[in-house]
Amino acid sequence: MIEITGLVKTLYGGGHEVKILKSLDLTIPTGQFLAVTGQSGSGKTTLLSLIAGLDNSTTGQIVIDGQDITKLNEDELALLRGKRFGFIFQNFHLIPTLTALENVVLAAELNSTPGATKKATDLLGTVGLGDRLHHYPAQLSGGEQQRLSLARAFVNEPDIILADEPTGNLDSKNSDRIIELLLELHRVKQATIILVTHEQHVAERSERILTLADGKIASDRLNP
Ligand SMILES: Nc1ncnc2c1ncn2[C@@H]1O[C@H](COP(=O)(O)OP(=O)(O)OP(=O)(O)O)[C@@H](O)[C@H]1O
Ligand SMILES: [Mg+2]
Repeated sequence: MIEITGLVKTLYGGGHEVKILKSLDLTIPTGQFLAVTGQSGSGKTTLLSLIAGLDNSTTGQIVIDGQDITKLNEDELALLRGKRFGFIFQNFHLIPTLTALENVVLAAELNSTPGATKKATDLLGTVGLGDRLHHYPAQLSGGEQQRLSLARAFVNEPDIILADEPTGNLDSKNSDRIIELLLELHRVKQATIILVTHEQHVAERSERILTLADGKIASDRLNP
């Protein structure tokens, strides 16, 4: 379970304070598929970065299964990220000098996941890249790169998936495919998924839709 209380993020720009998140309270049960929507600049990516421990909050708590991650140091956070989180960010962060297979294997090896090559090969098959194992990222289409980052996010069997607009650049066919994969892997592994999206039809596939506006929760509803 992820329990967020009184989460505030304030930045200083142009000599004055900018409040980006204004005391957010949010509980995400284990295994929930949560979509986060809201206008550009409403704080979605900031929220995701804070949950991932990639950014520091100004005040507030983020407790993941009883552990307050705002109290962890860099090394402890890196360990937690490797073990528990899978990231799917819009700009991929794929390593251009490694093939598709090597990108996924590296992620597994960094986390000492056993059987890295077999696991990576199987996962790439699952995301429909079985015949693209030895292609470099530049030799893959946008949709294929997204699916590669999905395989990489899943290789360590994380129990929390953080996805920031994974379908943002894709045509509707590839976008549907990414969502189907997320839903399937969610069902099979019971992972908690936090998916940031601008697209209403993507959000509607989730179990719960949270809308941010101006750094606050504007609405929070279950999606039957
Ligand atoms: N380093 C920074 N310095 C100052 N302001 C920042 C900084 N990073 C983000 N912001 C501001 O914080 C607000 C929230 O940004 P955030 O990236 O979380 O929005 P978002 O909801 O993800 O938007 P988008 O849908 O466009 O990705 C924005 O108004 C942005 O301008
Ligand atoms: Mg964003």
